[in-house]
Amino acid sequence: MVRVLDVENPNNEYLSGNFGPVAKEVSSSQMEVVGKIPAELSGAFLRIGPNPVYVEDIEKYHWFDGDGMIHEVHFENGNATYRNKFVETKGLALEAEHGEALWKGLNSPPDLMNEHGLFKNAANTAVAFHANKLLALWEGGNPTEVRVPDLSTIGETDFDGKLMHPFTAHPKVDAHTGEMITFGYNMMGPDFCHVSVVNKEGELVKTVGIKLPKPVMMHDCAITENYTVLLDMPVTFDLADVMNGGQPLNWDPDNGTRIGILPRHGEGDEVKWFDVETGFVFHTVNAYEDGDEVVLDACRSDKTNVVGADGNTESDPGDMPRMHQWRMNMKTGEATERSLDPVCGSEFPRINDNYIGRRARYSYNARIGEVPSGGFNGIVKYDLENETAEHFLYGDNKFGGEPIFAPRAGATEEDDGWVIGFVYDANNDSGECVVLDAANFSDGPVARIKLPQRVPYGFHAGWVPQAGIDAQS
Ligand SMILES: [Fe+2]
Repeated sequence: MVRVLDVENPNNEYLSGNFGPVAKEVSSSQMEVVGKIPAELSGAFLRIGPNPVYVEDIEKYHWFDGDGMIHEVHFENGNATYRNKFVETKGLALEAEHGEALWKGLNSPPDLMNEHGLFKNAANTAVAFHANKLLALWEGGNPTEVRVPDLSTIGETDFDGKLMHPFTAHPKVDAHTGEMITFGYNMMGPDFCHVSVVNKEGELVKTVGIKLPKPVMMHDCAITENYTVLLDMPVTFDLADVMNGGQPLNWDPDNGTRIGILPRHGEGDEVKWFDVETGFVFHTVNAYEDGDEVVLDACRSDKTNVVGADGNTESDPGDMPRMHQWRMNMKTGEATERSLDPVCGSEFPRINDNYIGRRARYSYNARIGEVPSGGFNGIVKYDLENETAEHFLYGDNKFGGEPIFAPRAGATEEDDGWVIGFVYDANNDSGECVVLDAANFSDGPVARIKLPQRVPYGFHAGWVPQAGIDAQS
């Protein structure tokens, strides 16, 4: 059985260089460390991304198509163990059984007659830890449960049959109530979006449908203490195009750009919509309530050509995601907005997860280099209270992705903990894990762990504290 795509010199940038897959699942506790791993750092740093095994057409492979693989560094008592493993999805198992790709991928018209379903649930986008379970997520299907730290796959979950919609890669867990808020979008209306609440025990307790003018790709959401924040942004689906074998997504600014505020436990028709400037958001930073206002911070660009969305062929190198803030006044119905950093581009923002939905002072973002095509060349720590930023640059020809914040056990200060990320060194095709003391960010890493293999560029990261690992059911 061929476990990993093995093609020399594939004619596709997403199968080459550090986008390309790694062939092996490995584990190592014997790694060179430059600096010192903090003894109090205890838990698992995870990063998930695509690592394709079977590909129908090399030239048409899209980065989003690859099978989910988790790369992990488990910290314990000043030591670190690296491990990487595929998420053993039903789709991957089926392809292994057949010995070939059974789905075409995003760069090909969807095969409406595919007996195995329209898409493969690749479980490749993000991870969430809730109710003592780690979920590997893909926004078109069910979550896949995985154990930490061994990364063995348990299987898909539909919340005891209660999950009736696709499950976003970006649910939000409220550390104060233990609830997880999730949503999903679909092409068939009139409820093009559904929002669900999962209680702290992991039971899905409520789902409401949300009416939208058109079906849209809605990648992320945000929560506050009392509300769920929804993004109706102008990347729309055209079902007729799909039926005719065309590209399903369109950049459709005439559809408007709106932010919806839904009471967390309210009904679908209680959502209050605010029109804002035309733009697109992949990832939110956080939201919170401030008097009569709901405040949303996110990385915003003027346009997007995600997954080939038509109508945005004029690439503008100046248009990159940047920190942005909207204020929605729930009393007046007015929304205002402004840029929080007109200079530096950034994406993949993360905060201290214990502050999700409450006012947070710090955000840690993947920094976009001066040449946008150069990838993420460092991490920016934003101080949203003082509106200042500190920049950590990886160094020449070194690139990273989403960082996470790991709080110190028992911490009372928001930035008392560590910022952790994977770095690819293109100078020698190797990988490392960097650990920075968040409160002394400008000092650079306190530890650089030299990994036994490179970590391919991927999507989202996560942190599971040791207490969560120990509490897994
Ligand atoms: Fe995402």
